[in-house]
Amino acid sequence: MNNYSTHEGTARYRDRFKDNLAQNHFNESQNLWFSSIGFGSYLGNHDDQTDSNYQNALKHAIGLGCNHIDTAINYRFQRSERAIGSALETAFNEGTVNRDELIIATKGGYIPFDSDPPKDTRKYFIETFVEPGIASPEDIIAGSHCLTPNYIKNQLECSLKNLGIDCIDIYYLHNPEEQLRELSRESFSKRVASAFELLETKVSDGKIKIYGTATWNGYRQEPTEAGYLSLEDFVLIAKEVAGENHNFKVIQLPFNLAMPEALTLRNQPLGGVMYSVFEAAHNLGFTVIASSSLLQSQLTRNLPDFINKYLKNLNSDAQRAIQFVRSIPEITTALIGMSSVKHVDENMKVAELPPASEDDIKKLFEKA
Ligand SMILES: NC(=O)c1ccc[n+]([C@@H]2O[C@H](COP(=O)([O-])OP(=O)(O)OC[C@H]3O[C@@H](n4cnc5c(N)ncnc54)[C@H](OP(=O)(O)O)[C@@H]3O)[C@@H](O)[C@H]2O)c1
Repeated sequence: MNNYSTHEGTARYRDRFKDNLAQNHFNESQNLWFSSIGFGSYLGNHDDQTDSNYQNALKHAIGLGCNHIDTAINYRFQRSERAIGSALETAFNEGTVNRDELIIATKGGYIPFDSDPPKDTRKYFIETFVEPGIASPEDIIAGSHCLTPNYIKNQLECSLKNLGIDCIDIYYLHNPEEQLRELSRESFSKRVASAFELLETKVSDGKIKIYGTATWNGYRQEPTEAGYLSLEDFVLIAKEVAGENHNFKVIQLPFNLAMPEALTLRNQPLGGVMYSVFEAAHNLGFTVIASSSLLQSQLTRNLPDFINKYLKNLNSDAQRAIQFVRSIPEITTALIGMSSVKHVDENMKVAELPPASEDDIKKLFEKA
């Protein structure tokens, strides 16, 4: 059995749900079958109860047709990665799912605490990162972010350990736009190039399958803004580092009923013509993963009534918000943070329906 996601494994997982979920709940991308609803793990307290909630919620979600799991080393001070690792260990031991059926993603860039905030942050940073030679104070941007190869190498190793797996399917540089708070564009490009170089060696070593950028503001801004990120520039860097066969294949960004910029803002130049993020990503062959599909739960209540008309046959605003995101053809997976089994049940119900038609999504925009 392969120790990473495969086409065969993810197709096997998809086929287990062919009688109870909509056929097009699974989307093919990068030669893998992704569930259109993915499991996010960002929010929540850094305590044992929340760890346990995430473990139960993940096991439940895997059983209901969710095979894309997203986390980051800094989420809940490494507790989210560890909770996922523990749930996966149980699921693999119990034989409910195989490793090659799941697409597991994590991110590195922010300096993570270790389960709890340290009493003395400076001492923690020096003992954990400076003394072992992982990062120096000059490598750190805005007091909390680092993309140097040595640091990312260390963070990737820690994530593999936390998750208890041998290979991460998608490894993201986490909010790389943070670096533009202090670096010039030229220095930023050099740091990204060194990070991509490291990630390419990790693909060759079998520690990651593909890599990408997970962002918050970077892809949703005008090119004139300080933290703006250009897909075309990143692809140029990837090609310089690894040629045409580079493994920079995935982008993640917030997209939801209140944050539609990836569809509506033409901020990405390709050969001198401006495109939306979705158009540019499609042209460049990227997989697009949507984060914050519920706007961190704010879209689970008080949505305007007219939305019911276009996002039909759903019982709650949370389900309508999820249906909107998963119905955008360029989006492979809509990530939903869910530490509660009750929310998993409610959200995975949407997978029984096909995505909304392009016509209904268009009408929804016209009405809005
Ligand atoms: N820059 C980045 O890289 C970035 C940024 C943001 C997010 N992300 C990724 O995207 C994932 C999703 O984003 P997010 O977690 O920030 O926000 P989200 O998915 O929009 O919302 C998650 C929140 O909604 C609640 N929720 C879930 N289902 C619900 C339902 N049916 N009814 C009511 N509340 C519900 C969850 O509560 P419970 O926990 O109690 O179930 C949680 O508090 C993250 O977990 C993370 O993996 C990445």
